Amino acid sequence: MEPFKLGFIGAGFISRFQAKAVAQVRGVELAGVTAPENAESLQALSLELGIGPCTVYPNVRELAKNVDAVCIFCPNFSRLEVMREVAAAVKEGAALKGIIVEKPLGRTVAEARELVNLAKETGLPTAYFENQIHMKAINAALSQLAPQQRNMGPLALARSSEEHAGPHSPWFWDPTKQGGGVLSDMGCHSIAVGWYVLNPVGKPVDFMQPITVSAETALLKWGTPRGLKLLKERMGVDYTQTPAEDFATGIVSFRNPESGQIAKAQFTNSWMYDKQGLRLTMDGLGQGYAFEMNTLVSSLNIFIGDEAAEAAADSETALEKATSSRGLLAVEPNEPDLYGYVDEIKDAVAAFREGRDALLNFEYGLQITTLCQAAYLSAERGTAVDLTDPETQKTLESYTSLIAQGRGREVLHVMA
Ligand SMILES: NC(=O)c1ccc[n+]([C@@H]2O[C@H](COP(=O)([O-])OP(=O)(O)OC[C@H]3O[C@@H](n4cnc5c(N)ncnc54)[C@H](O)[C@@H]3O)[C@@H](O)[C@H]2O)c1
Repeated sequence: MEPFKLGFIGAGFISRFQAKAVAQVRGVELAGVTAPENAESLQALSLELGIGPCTVYPNVRELAKNVDAVCIFCPNFSRLEVMREVAAAVKEGAALKGIIVEKPLGRTVAEARELVNLAKETGLPTAYFENQIHMKAINAALSQLAPQQRNMGPLALARSSEEHAGPHSPWFWDPTKQGGGVLSDMGCHSIAVGWYVLNPVGKPVDFMQPITVSAETALLKWGTPRGLKLLKERMGVDYTQTPAEDFATGIVSFRNPESGQIAKAQFTNSWMYDKQGLRLTMDGLGQGYAFEMNTLVSSLNIFIGDEAAEAAADSETALEKATSSRGLLAVEPNEPDLYGYVDEIKDAVAAFREGRDALLNFEYGLQITTLCQAAYLSAERGTAVDLTDPETQKTLESYTSLIAQGRGREVLHVMA
């Protein structure tokens, strides 16, 4: 079989991670890349990994003409402009077999809907990349517990979190560019995976119907005098002017459309997790059965004492967003696989080869964007948001959170 040719749009953090995932999938090659910065360094990584020539193209249209699927791995603020270019390339004859986009689908519901519509115009299959749903640990838990689900009923409570000490590029911290703070950036993961595990075994990914969202957003670390100073020095970002939340938590309630059962997904996300590095946790609770996952519990610990610390390598080789290069370190030797990137690529490529959408398509991404935006709306209003109310749905269609508008000071506490 001919290798399936992927073309990356963007050559930053996630593109490098995904390249390492591609190296673990048979029959897939990294054929090309386009990005204003770091394209050559992604190409060098691709050659080092032996996953393809990763030819550097000057723009999206040229890339699209030379690959089987494009992967939109560029910043949130460039999504729409890039998707319009992809749609134009298809109109001009680019023979793509599918379009992949990283989370979040859009910074607002309106933006996400436009992406869905542009994809529909192309008539191509889509994949929305939400890696946590593809995590082997999550899917192993669900398949191990399938008999219990059948006998005792589905899970009733999911608790998910994703936390680290803060993102790596300045644009993530600018709520007007990113679409908000940690809720927009990582809440989408936790809400999606919570929903996923609550669906009874064998049901589609959006089977359980979201009925209410209740959430809080707060600025707990990066709005303190020390946090504000650090952020200015490290990222050139001024949170005294345009702050975003570094902590978000909430509950999405779901209704089973067949049995009427209510289930809840509790999510917590932060950019103030000053521990070893990125941590994903997930709890699932049913009647008489449960599962629990924590990605910081590794079978590998290493220790680097002060005496030996001068020779310490880049701490991020141990763990994404690692905050320390000495002491007792948790090491995850295969993060692209652990976090689900390998399996999401496998799923998308298999689907595109068969001419169908991946497990998660753009319409699903739109639903996740809607839930995230409902969470912002709930935090602003200080009350639960009723998703079954047509008025709420109408409000969400044109809603941009105060934080994403750059008016975060109206809802967050800044100590300056
Ligand atoms: N699933 C995950 O866990 C995960 C993790 C990190 C990032 N992401 C998502 O991936 C996307 C990219 O994030 P990142 O961390 O790689 O960002 P980054 O800042 O590390 O890199 C961004 C890359 O995109 C390029 N770029 C900028 N504007 C562009 C444009 N108009 N067209 C093409 N390329 C452009 C930049 O030159 C750079 O190479 C974001 O949407 C982010 O939400 C997902």
